Formats: sequence, structure tokens, C-alpha cells
Amino acid sequence: MKLLVFKNIEELSVDFCNNITQLTSGKEKFFLALSGGTTPKVIFQTLVRDFKKKIEWNKVHLFWGDERCVPPDHSESNYGMAKEYLLDHIDIPVENIHRIKGEDNPDNEAERYSNEIKKYLPEVNGLPQFDAAMLGLGEDGHTASIFPDQLKLLSSDKICETAIHPSTKQKRITLTGKAINNSGKVYFLVTGKKKSIIVEKILNKKNNYLKFPASHINPFNGELFWFLGDEAASELYNP
Ligand code: 6PG
Repeated sequence: MKLLVFKNIEELSVDFCNNITQLTSGKEKFFLALSGGTTPKVIFQTLVRDFKKKIEWNKVHLFWGDERCVPPDHSESNYGMAKEYLLDHIDIPVENIHRIKGEDNPDNEAERYSNEIKKYLPEVNGLPQFDAAMLGLGEDGHTASIFPDQLKLLSSDKICETAIHPSTKQKRITLTGKAINNSGKVYFLVTGKKKSIIVEKILNKKNNYLKFPASHINPFNGELFWFLGDEAASELYNP
């Protein structure tokens, strides 16, 4: 595990985008799972502003680590956010954009999306392998849409499963723990003071930290990166 702390989200974004640019160069195909929520917005803006000409988008296949079960034009759609902040501004073939159809029946869509992933991604360890997966972190220790009251999604043999947001009861579709941990590289991208307590508990293995889904993300043969904004890292130094 590599832990990197950045002065602000802009510096974090540039470093992450440099990583992705280096990883895509020379690859025939590059399979990237995008995260949702708000943190990726600045990262996508940085990709568009400084890197859109440096990445061969015709080689990049974009998937999502999770989606809210809403239509693509809904304000809470992870696809919708990525479209607004990234997809509408880069020259990527539409067939390389593999969105989760949040508007469809969740169980059917989880299965359909699992098959789409298996159809495109190389199989490693008997599972499809993403070259890289972006992950966020919730204050409750959730990641993708794997929430503390649904830890079974970490050991599921499926690629995607349905989930339910514990407080909003919103239905979600998410990659499972095994699908995430089979990735070549996993990047936690976490900023903001409000995440500092959960970051400290998970990285310092405190307070029964295994009750937090993010504590179980550790790639089988890949690399794990924690990219933290300094505020999110603030409790690491004076717990
Ligand atoms: C989602 C996400 C989720 C997100 C975290 C952090 O669909 O909500 O994929 O796992 O990454 O909740 O969200 P923020 O970046 O908004 O803090």
C-alpha cells in the first residue's frame, strides 16, 4: 500500500491523472472503473483541462464501480456526473463507455453488467481484471456501494451485486469486493476534513476497523494507493 498526501485536491488530481496517463500509454486496451460521488468532479476537470490530449481515449474503456438506481439524466447519477465533467469533453468512442443502466431493474442490471464486464475484460485469477479502479470513501467506511451493513458483498462470487444505501434506502448496483480486489491498481481518492476520522481508523486499524468495507480493499496481486488531501490525512498524525 502506498499512501500519498497532497496539499489540496488539485495536486492530488494532477498526480492521479499522471498515473493514469502513464498506465494507458503503450497499452492496447485500458480498463478503468470510475468512482462516483463528488470527489471525482475535480479529477475529471483536471483530466479534461490538462490531459485530454495526452491520453489515447480510443484505447480506454470506462466502466463504473457503482451506480445509483436512477436514470442517467438524474442529478444523482454517477454516469450523469461523469458525462457532464468528463465524457462530454473528451474524444472517446461511445462503444468504450460502459455505463450501468441505473434506470433498469437492479437485479437484472447487476447481472447484465457483470456479463458486460466479463465480455470485455481479461480474466485473471478466474475473475475479470480492471487495470485500475477509482474508489471514494464514505464517512461510514463504505466504498463503491458496499456499506457496513452489507459486508457480504465483499466476499460475493458475483462481479456486481445490488445494494441499498443504509439511510436513504436508495438502491445501488456495485462491483463486489472480489471484483475490486482483482484490479491491477486500486486508488482511494479521499479529500476533506469530514473524512479524517474514518481514514485514521482504517489506516491505523483501529476500533474494529474490519467493520468498515474499505478496510477490506487490498488487491490480490495488484497495488493499493491511498491518495489523500491533507485535511483527510489530518488525524493520521495526531490521532
Ligand atoms: C457513490 C460512490 C461512493 C462515493 C463515496 C464518497 O456512488 O456514492 O461511489 O462510494 O465514492 O460516498 O463520496 P464523496 O466523494 O462524495 O465524498
